[in-house]
Amino acid sequence: MAVAAKYGPWAVIAGASEGLGVSFAEQLAAAGINIILIARNAEKLDEVAGMLVDRFAVQVRKAVIDLTSDDMVERVAAASEDVDVGFLLYNAGAVSGPKLVIDQGRDEIMHTIRLNTIGQTMLAQHFGQKMVARGRGGIVLVGSGGAHAGCYQLAVYSAVKAYTMTFAEGLWAEMQPSGVDVAALMIGRTRTPALERSEYGQDSGVAAAEPDDIARFALANLENGPVLVPPELQAAFLAMRAMPRRQAVETMTRALAPQTSK
Ligand SMILES: NC(=O)c1ccc[n+]([C@@H]2O[C@H](COP(=O)([O-])OP(=O)(O)OC[C@H]3O[C@@H](n4cnc5c(N)ncnc54)[C@H](OP(=O)(O)O)[C@@H]3O)[C@@H](O)[C@H]2O)c1
Repeated sequence: MAVAAKYGPWAVIAGASEGLGVSFAEQLAAAGINIILIARNAEKLDEVAGMLVDRFAVQVRKAVIDLTSDDMVERVAAASEDVDVGFLLYNAGAVSGPKLVIDQGRDEIMHTIRLNTIGQTMLAQHFGQKMVARGRGGIVLVGSGGAHAGCYQLAVYSAVKAYTMTFAEGLWAEMQPSGVDVAALMIGRTRTPALERSEYGQDSGVAAAEPDDIARFALANLENGPVLVPPELQAAFLAMRAMPRRQAVETMTRALAPQTSK
């Protein structure tokens, strides 16, 4: 089935003001799908919306919403209640830098947990109900290679990204029989503006993928859920899953050491 027929006529991009969210928005708009852009930065959303309207013959809406706010689902629902949403990308979720749990503020920890677990669960439920009822759709939750083992100075982040993968697997089992594709997109280092602003953006010697390539890979493989791993990371993914846990933690910690030790 063509992308627009299966995942249109509207897509919601949660985390859409830059980076991977914009790459998905462009590729979905190029396929003729109308877009609802969600993020906190209104000016950046204006720019993205303007760019999409200039380049593609689609409708674009902006919703300035913090995905960790208590009334987030109600506000997203209000921004989308009169349109038929066939695709959800839950993209927002990065952390700004490595930190021991004992050095993190409670607000910082709660923000990471809310953004990556509660936010994506509640939006997947909200839009998933409608997609199952109409018998088609797609849900992509952005995870991280950091989920494959707990990691030094990234303990909360690696744990919430493991939630993303396990949640997507269960959701896939529930929804795939109804024609709704679900996938956790388990990416590695990716050249987004947020990465470049963060401590991880410093040159670590670890190559970064391009957001456009990741979005293209995900959209081409949406029917191959529940877990999508970019081809260049698949061998490492399988090796990590097969390791004894202690070895996996040590390997993950070593792999991220050039970034976490800065
Ligand atoms: N970049 C990497 O190397 C890398 C590696 C592995 C996994 N990932 C994952 O890939 C995803 C995208 O990462 P990223 O590097 O682009 O950084 P990000 O900080 O997750 O930003 C992505 C988008 O989410 C929005 N956003 C962030 N927090 C939000 C909130 N509370 N409410 C609403 N929107 C919010 C941002 O816009 P506003 O600031 O305007 O709200 C931005 O448009 C994340 O889930 C991250 O964990 C990234």
